[in-house]
Amino acid sequence: MLIGRVSMDPMMDQAPPRPLRATRPAGPLTGVMRVPGDKSISHRALMFGALAVGETRISGLLEGEDVLRTAAAMRALGAHVERGADGSWTVAGRGIGGLVEPDDVLDMGNSGTAARLLCGILASHPFFSVMTGDASLRRRPMRRVTDPLAQCGARFTAREGGRLPLAVEGAADALPLEYRLPVASAQVKSAILLCGLNCPGVTRVEEPEATRDHSENMLRHFGATVSVERAGAGRVITLQGQPELRAADIAVPADPSSAAFPLAAALLVPGSSLRLEGVGLNPLRTGLLATLREMAADFAVENQRIEGGEPVGDLVVRHGPLRAVDVPPERAPSMIDEYPILAAAAACAAGTTRMRGLRELRVKESDRLAATAALLSVNGARVEIEGDDLLVHGTGTPPPGGGTVLTHMDHRIAMSALVLGLATAAPVTVDEAAFIDTSFPGFVQLMNDAGAAIAHMMS
Ligand code: S3P
Repeated sequence: MLIGRVSMDPMMDQAPPRPLRATRPAGPLTGVMRVPGDKSISHRALMFGALAVGETRISGLLEGEDVLRTAAAMRALGAHVERGADGSWTVAGRGIGGLVEPDDVLDMGNSGTAARLLCGILASHPFFSVMTGDASLRRRPMRRVTDPLAQCGARFTAREGGRLPLAVEGAADALPLEYRLPVASAQVKSAILLCGLNCPGVTRVEEPEATRDHSENMLRHFGATVSVERAGAGRVITLQGQPELRAADIAVPADPSSAAFPLAAALLVPGSSLRLEGVGLNPLRTGLLATLREMAADFAVENQRIEGGEPVGDLVVRHGPLRAVDVPPERAPSMIDEYPILAAAAACAAGTTRMRGLRELRVKESDRLAATAALLSVNGARVEIEGDDLLVHGTGTPPPGGGTVLTHMDHRIAMSALVLGLATAAPVTVDEAAFIDTSFPGFVQLMNDAGAAIAHMMS
């Protein structure tokens, strides 16, 4: 199966850049669209499927580069992972403790989620493995997972600063962990839980603020015993070790973090009206919707239902004026990936928007705080970084545009810049389009089908 860059030449890192340009379209964005499957849920479906007994069938899996890396890693660890002709995927799992030593380096590409969650699995499997990633992932901190996971008996050897490539010697008789997260991170929480699956006894994770709970939901769906208790603003999660995970079907909802781009585009392009179908509405992912409401955005959630254990609904959005907002720091975990696109919308809103407590953005696929500020200022918006806060001074009309945005191997910076370019008088260019495929394959086509004007340029 050949999809995207995963299956391509390893020299791809040196491929010539593919710039893209967004121009204000002549008319509105209209129609009905379904964005690809949720990235977080897709990674987890493949991983839990590989650890379950029996065959897990996944519909709506995100076939983006990041998730395909996870599929490749699960194959390298001995699971049978296949894409059917109808687009659904099956994973024949090996059962907890049943994975086998990979005979080559595991390359997780651009994906922090894949790398960090996999560390959790590898920590409690008694074999040797080596993991690497692309230049962006090799810069990202991994000690946030390897330090706590080492307490189970695993040994990690990494580059300076705990960065990839790293080698793992999994523990033969892993001990269950009790860990209080120092940062609100669903990736760290999930790594600890995944490790705990192959430990006897109870694994306990305390998170200071609630983060996305797809791992907890999916563990239950596969038959594990997981309890979640509120503790102040956070939660305590306990998992009974060494359950028999039973294969279960999974329907992956459309990714709310991907829906954020056409949603914002429809808000910004005059006359637009879009329907986004089957979008995941897990309450720990809907911070952007709460924020857009406060900005007076014109949208409605229709046809709310439960699909595959997760709430989903259709978002019906219309163009309209936006006003500035003050986004509290405690909202960050529920919209952590949405700040770049929110900042683009805020640049078109009336007044100064302050987004508080964005320290974690500095360690995403790029330094997203700096990259977001740069994407706006190069297009003529006034923006400031004050400590961990981002301030965007909107005038009520879009900034002039005309800038070339450096995407720094960051898909969300690229898509945010292109959405901004649909509203600005002068076009907005991004230096490299390739990374969009990590989370939103087909982005340009889907947007253009709705009336956008995004085109490749000769480099
Ligand atoms: C994710 C958690 C978030 C998010 C990432 C996906 C996950 O990262 O930014 O895109 O699937 O658990 P952190 O856990 O580092 O906040």
